[in-house]
Amino acid sequence: MKKIENTSLSIKNVGETVELYGFVGKKRNLGGLIFIDLRDRSGIIQLVIRPEDSCYQTASELRNEYVIKVIGTVSERESKNDKIPTGEIEVLVSELTLLNTALEVPFAITDETTALEDTRLKYRYLDLRRNSLQSNLKTRHKITMAVREYMDSLGFLEVETPVLCKSTPEGARDYLVPSRVNDGKFYALPQSPQIFKQLLMIGGLEKYFQIAKCFRDEDLRADRQPEFTQIDIESSYVDENDIMTIGEGLVAYVFKKIKNIDVELPLRRMPYKEAMRLYGSDKPDLRFAMPIEDITDILRHTSMSFIKDVIDQGGIVNCLVAKGAASKYSRKELDKLTDYVKTYRASGLAFLKIEDEITGSIAKGLTEDETNLLKEQLKLEKGDLVLIVNGDYNTVKVSLGALRCKLGRDLDLIKKGDYQLLWVTDFPTFEYSEEEGRYVSCHHPFTAPKDEDVDKLIDDKANCYSKAYDIVINGYEAGGGSIRIHDQEIQSKVFEALGLSPEEVEEKFGFFVNALKYGTPPHGGIAFGLDRLVMLLTETDNIRDVIAFPKTASASCLMSEAPNTVSDAQLKELHIKLDK
Ligand code: AMO
Repeated sequence: MKKIENTSLSIKNVGETVELYGFVGKKRNLGGLIFIDLRDRSGIIQLVIRPEDSCYQTASELRNEYVIKVIGTVSERESKNDKIPTGEIEVLVSELTLLNTALEVPFAITDETTALEDTRLKYRYLDLRRNSLQSNLKTRHKITMAVREYMDSLGFLEVETPVLCKSTPEGARDYLVPSRVNDGKFYALPQSPQIFKQLLMIGGLEKYFQIAKCFRDEDLRADRQPEFTQIDIESSYVDENDIMTIGEGLVAYVFKKIKNIDVELPLRRMPYKEAMRLYGSDKPDLRFAMPIEDITDILRHTSMSFIKDVIDQGGIVNCLVAKGAASKYSRKELDKLTDYVKTYRASGLAFLKIEDEITGSIAKGLTEDETNLLKEQLKLEKGDLVLIVNGDYNTVKVSLGALRCKLGRDLDLIKKGDYQLLWVTDFPTFEYSEEEGRYVSCHHPFTAPKDEDVDKLIDDKANCYSKAYDIVINGYEAGGGSIRIHDQEIQSKVFEALGLSPEEVEEKFGFFVNALKYGTPPHGGIAFGLDRLVMLLTETDNIRDVIAFPKTASASCLMSEAPNTVSDAQLKELHIKLDK
């Protein structure tokens, strides 16, 4: 391969003859001289074509994004540009070959762009020419390389698992693929390689990892794609500590390699209950403090009936203290915050402003004693804003947790480039799904309950906790895993707790439950969201910025127009009739 990268050239190469390839970035004609920014994946270099050069005519006809090859001499620039790596030099072109022309592009290929995201996604191949996306994909490559290096150094084997799988009823919705040769039957695309990696442990592989594609038909958000990539890990003969040590070691290795950041190990660990109590979230963003404060006891005997009634019915009153923010929130802005917490089902938002006097929606309803106790417990100072929600435990915590994150952003409490990592541990085994009217798995049904909670699986689901852990970075769930059940009796009990009949278990998981009976080593694992790790390390909050060909919020590809309709003949072959 002859091609050298533009930015491999510097002042040291002055006088050398070079052959370069790339796109025409920008072209200017100054006093008869033609200047071209030649762009390749490494960056740009300036080309100069003089009127006396034989290629002058070809150069003057070049347009943006034409593809060219040039031969020329590296020369020192008169006016240097310290903003680009090749800013000290230019190439005096002696030969120019037009390799291909290009249509006028729908948006300029520049680092920053104001082009609509839909247009960029429709012409993703042009968007990919932009430096920011190229740089994100380079970081992604470096991260996957670092992961492979680290896992290999610990003796883990990379093993591929199937993409055409069996549909299982837990978790998100499956993407289904009809089977032509098995009339009426479907494969499901894997939501994760969970069962297969456990079968690899039963198969004696001991240490497995995979950079695995996963597919989930769920509502999309800024950090979710219907098809995404996991760094999937499983090991035999391990406990929670072992997996957390491997997981945080991997993250620290990647942070050092990519960002030269030393992550302090071991990472802090916070039980789920404490994360919910203090931050109203199982993925607390610890880049700023502002914990949720419980003021139920202070207001237990309040004369304000809308608060007292809630407390009498077993509810709680909690608040956030936004230091120095009293003057930043007008009545109108506080109304907006109220609407915000209401989207998290809070009944409303009361507030206090600590000014010369205490003002605010509930200031008049407080006794002097209550005011003093609040001042003392919350360490209130002049200028502080107190935001209060009352109601049932979960609603109060979750709505204040969301409000806390909003305030963190709005009040600029987050330092750029800061990373705060922690483990959240001791998750509940089950959570109640209002939608389904039953308990569902908090992680997945193969998660081992805590030894002391095995007896609660059937009769006390709300108090059953499991050997599960999530790694949280800057408020994102970057990964999660657990120690698995290796005993088929406990596994059957969990299926029973989830309301699956023995027939359903046999139908869906029979092969797996059976496999557990053939000497299953104790095992556990974790999966990291690779896309999320790349987002964090490239400091973007849009997952589409780190995926070459992402999907939109409605799970479609604007470029290829997937999903699309298929011919009647294809459907017939698959034994499918559409309900039109
Ligand atoms: P879980 O479902 O928690 O665990 O997924 C692991 C990690 O994958 C990432 N992730 C996603 N990233 C982008 N788009 C999505 N739609 C998406 N869904 C999940 C998150 C998450 O932490 N089999 C288990 C792991 C295990 O127990 O070992 C699993 O899949 O970063």
